[in-house]
Amino acid sequence: MALRRVGRPRANVSSSEKALMAKILDGRMVVGVVGLGYVGLPLALEFAKSGIRTIGVDVSAEKISSLNAGKNYIQDLDDAEIRRVVKTTKMLSASRDFSVLAECDVIYVCVPTPFTANKDPDISHIVHATQEIARSLRKGQLVILKSTTFPGTTEKYVKPILDATKLVCGRDYFLAFSPERIDPGNATWTTHNTPVVVGGVTSACTDLAIAVNRRIINEVVPVSSPSVAEMEKLLENIFRSVNIALVNELAQLCDRIGVNIWEVVDAAKTKPFGFMPFYPGPGIGGHCILIDPYYLSWAAREVDFVTNFITLAAEVNESMPFYVRSMIEREIARQPVTMKSAKVLLLGMAFKKDVDDLRHSPALKVAELLHEGGIENISYFDPYIPSVDVHGKTLTSKKTLTPAFIKRHDVVVITTDHSSFDVEMIVANATVVIDTRNATKNVRGPKKNVVLLGDGK
Ligand SMILES: NC(=O)c1ccc[n+]([C@@H]2O[C@H](COP(=O)([O-])OP(=O)(O)OC[C@H]3O[C@@H](n4cnc5c(N)ncnc54)[C@H](O)[C@@H]3O)[C@@H](O)[C@H]2O)c1
Repeated sequence: MALRRVGRPRANVSSSEKALMAKILDGRMVVGVVGLGYVGLPLALEFAKSGIRTIGVDVSAEKISSLNAGKNYIQDLDDAEIRRVVKTTKMLSASRDFSVLAECDVIYVCVPTPFTANKDPDISHIVHATQEIARSLRKGQLVILKSTTFPGTTEKYVKPILDATKLVCGRDYFLAFSPERIDPGNATWTTHNTPVVVGGVTSACTDLAIAVNRRIINEVVPVSSPSVAEMEKLLENIFRSVNIALVNELAQLCDRIGVNIWEVVDAAKTKPFGFMPFYPGPGIGGHCILIDPYYLSWAAREVDFVTNFITLAAEVNESMPFYVRSMIEREIARQPVTMKSAKVLLLGMAFKKDVDDLRHSPALKVAELLHEGGIENISYFDPYIPSVDVHGKTLTSKKTLTPAFIKRHDVVVITTDHSSFDVEMIVANATVVIDTRNATKNVRGPKKNVVLLGDGK
């Protein structure tokens, strides 16, 4: 294939850039993916499926041996596809040894970006991965950071580590930030058809990152710098956090004034412009919406700026599990049981519907709060989460949800609205159902035993 530039023609194109662009365009490039979790493995699979040799690196021995045995461990991915690219086409292999990255022309970094106990950013995984990449960095390699992080991470933390090799960024090696938009559980918007943003340190870096992404993604949107791309990702997640907080606050207000927030949102969303529906719930979770806003508020503090929206949204969203606990306690108080003897059943433990991800799950937080409040008999059912730890006590999910099991509880709470739940059966058999997700919306007949969060009753 002829060498086709992606950006505007530039006068100084280094030999490393030319060589790498040629490999990207004709598919001879080898792709490395560091961090093979919810983000990294789907990405590695896409490249491998498109016939590009891909090498994954992870610190988890379990993940590496599973992958090299052709076994999938990410819910959304097709087991047969993983098996095929590992065992049949041999386009995907995995290792714990970072030295394999020397072979790669393009290296994506998809490691976690958690926060500390004080909710400050913890970019140690990014730093560690970069240090490992630097050990074998060579001319003609492109590094693309995908982990969500605060503006400035790529240029102030990643680049200096790579520059220490004495290779020159934009001439010898290349560096860009390109945030991940994957939405686990979403079958409509996948890696292919979700546009991706890229911001390179130099225009050569951006051009190369665009070309690589175009091998597997339909639309690539360039921005002027890594910091714009980093900030763009945070805006996406803060936008969700703030809007969810708004509707969570209004749900609490609606409970006081006797108006159903769900009906209000459904009515508002008939406006064809200027409104986008968000729904209340027991709180937010996962590795993104809860954590990422804190990355920006931390970065803002460094420049004496207070991000009030972020703080307020976090305060409201993180208060929701406490609100749900108070709903549960109220329903217990209405029955001839004590807090100590009351039996509470939580339906759904994952942080959102139809996923097996427990990270920062509001349902788990509710379980912890109930435990702290002296409620000792807590059970749960979640087909995706076999067991959880609640303050040192292991709870195991019931294998199947039967009418008899539901009847045995004083309060049943729908904490996560998995599609597989037989909501009619739940409502028909429970003494009382606290529905935090409007999962009972389509249940026919009387729903006198349903207490819906935000319905004003
Ligand atoms: N999960 C999502 O839906 C999602 C969406 C968009 C962005 N993100 C962002 O993508 C990044 C990765 O998230 P994830 O959900 O894939 O996390 P994950 O925990 O599922 O996967 C991360 C992987 O990195 C490995 N790892 C940790 N430290 C490492 C190191 N130093 N070197 C090599 N491997 C290492 C872990 O073993 C794990 O397999 C985070 O910054 C997250 O905010 C996640």
